[in-house]
Amino acid sequence: MRDKLEKVIEIKDLSFGYDKFLINKANLEIYKGDFLGIIGANGSGKSTLLKLILGELKPKSGSVKINNIAVCSKSDLREIGYVKQLNMENQIAFPITPLEIVKLNLYDEMKIFKIPRSEHKNKALNALASVRLSDRYNYNFNTMSGGEKQRVLIAKALVNNPDILIFDEPTAGVDYDSKEVLFNILQHLNKNHNITIVVVTHELEFSKKYFNRIIEIENEELNELEEVNYEHLSI
Ligand SMILES: Nc1ncnc2c1ncn2[C@@H]1O[C@H](COP(=O)(O)OP(=O)(O)O)[C@@H](O)[C@H]1O
Ligand SMILES: [Mg+2]
Repeated sequence: MRDKLEKVIEIKDLSFGYDKFLINKANLEIYKGDFLGIIGANGSGKSTLLKLILGELKPKSGSVKINNIAVCSKSDLREIGYVKQLNMENQIAFPITPLEIVKLNLYDEMKIFKIPRSEHKNKALNALASVRLSDRYNYNFNTMSGGEKQRVLIAKALVNNPDILIFDEPTAGVDYDSKEVLFNILQHLNKNHNITIVVVTHELEFSKKYFNRIIEIENEELNELEEVNYEHLSI
């Protein structure tokens, strides 16, 4: 069955460690439409694995391919939206609005194509609408709740129309109801916009109902847990 699925991320014989190995000859294929959870003990290498996928770290050996092209040979990774782990406070030192934050990611495009300002504003507003923050685009980001800040950062990642979204601990510092809102938004993006989603989390009890696959980093390997559910994928 897996033969028919489109690979969007392919990890092959991947090894990496800072002093000792965290990941040793690990393999993983992530398919278009997956909503994949990654779990593992503190310090097992979850954030490190994401940095390897994003090309921020270079493997000791093995490879990571995104849409069939080695990450190390790509000039940009526009097809991936990355929402990194928030720090506890997540304050920005000056007043800034969600609209301004989302527009930060359009900077490259502005330089190259000279798209009219109104079009940029519309793109940013559309991204904020897809995380249900249309009514708050002009708020002070610093006064927003943890869950709302996280949604602003998702909109920032979405504004370039990525086909993969990657999250590192998106529910850290977010209260229970806001976690539900957050994951419902991710589920909508996954099902209705066909965005592949990869989430590192230590809150498996809360989030497992959303995932179709769960991978655990253990003994320097990437092990798949439980029954895999491909029902929602159109194959
Ligand atoms: N830049 C670094 N240099 C050296 N060691 C690091 C660095 N980043 C992380 N580590 C170590 O690598 C291990 C895995 O870190 P990390 O990937 O952040 O784990 P996780 O996200 O699973 O908690 C930890 O022991 C951490 O201290
Ligand atoms: Mg981490």
